[in-house]
Amino acid sequence: MGAPLHWPLEALWQALAPRLPGFTAELLASVDSTNTECMRRLRAGQSEPLLLVALAQTAGRGRLGRSWQSECAAPGAALTFSLALPLAPRSWSGLSLAVGLCVARRLQEEPPPPGAPGPRAVLKWPNDLWLQGGGPERKLGGILVETASLLAPANSATRWVVVGIGLNVAPRSSEGLAMPAGCLHELDPRWDAPTALDRIAEPLVDALLAFEAYGFAPLVAPFAERDGLAGRLVRLSDGREGLAEGVGPDGALRVRTAAGVIEVASAEVSVRPVAV
Ligand code: BTN
Repeated sequence: MGAPLHWPLEALWQALAPRLPGFTAELLASVDSTNTECMRRLRAGQSEPLLLVALAQTAGRGRLGRSWQSECAAPGAALTFSLALPLAPRSWSGLSLAVGLCVARRLQEEPPPPGAPGPRAVLKWPNDLWLQGGGPERKLGGILVETASLLAPANSATRWVVVGIGLNVAPRSSEGLAMPAGCLHELDPRWDAPTALDRIAEPLVDALLAFEAYGFAPLVAPFAERDGLAGRLVRLSDGREGLAEGVGPDGALRVRTAAGVIEVASAEVSVRPVAV
């Protein structure tokens, strides 16, 4: 058994409560999915911002109905948490990209240049964190953004967002996964799950509030610096192929195809680099 983990929930509560009145943070030994549990609580009347961290998830969920597997990981070998808060952006487009950018920046402040041997934490449109360099491309983590409309006490509809983040902290088996698993220990062996949470949670709240105020447009250039698909041949799940050319001000992926540049915004479409 490894050293006991010290979760910074009290410190996070102190830091975040002034920005998010009524905020609470909770550590769960095991839950089906922190996103599902946040949604359940919101439907049951939860009316204040909430951070749920789980040591284990038995039915972790990913985008497009996929599963997020971390139940086989040893305690602390993965970080799984969700943050639920009311948000009123003018547009929701690009939110998962803004979250991914925030997380990538906190995990690796100064990434090595593309092509350098060291691992580089990059963003894979629209919701994955990948590691590139030092071996085949591998998935470091993923983001699941969900929204819910709930009636506020004044009977006006308030939209809540639940941002779920899963990160591999220590090496894990890639069996059954769509691509090899990477982990935070590749970036720095001193990472553990509580440290990662501590690095991410507060800036994540700031990023969400900035997104509410300004949307995704100001993040186009910073996203480009960590775009893991830019300049690569990609294939969309609807069969189209082309060269990835970054993202637009609404977070849509721009792909140059034989028929011209298309903008991929649909949450139903997935995209993969084509091995050349
Ligand atoms: C993906 O890879 O498509 C996204 C994975 C998101 C996983 C996280 S783990 C915490 C939160 N709870 C879930 O069930 N999913 C997210």
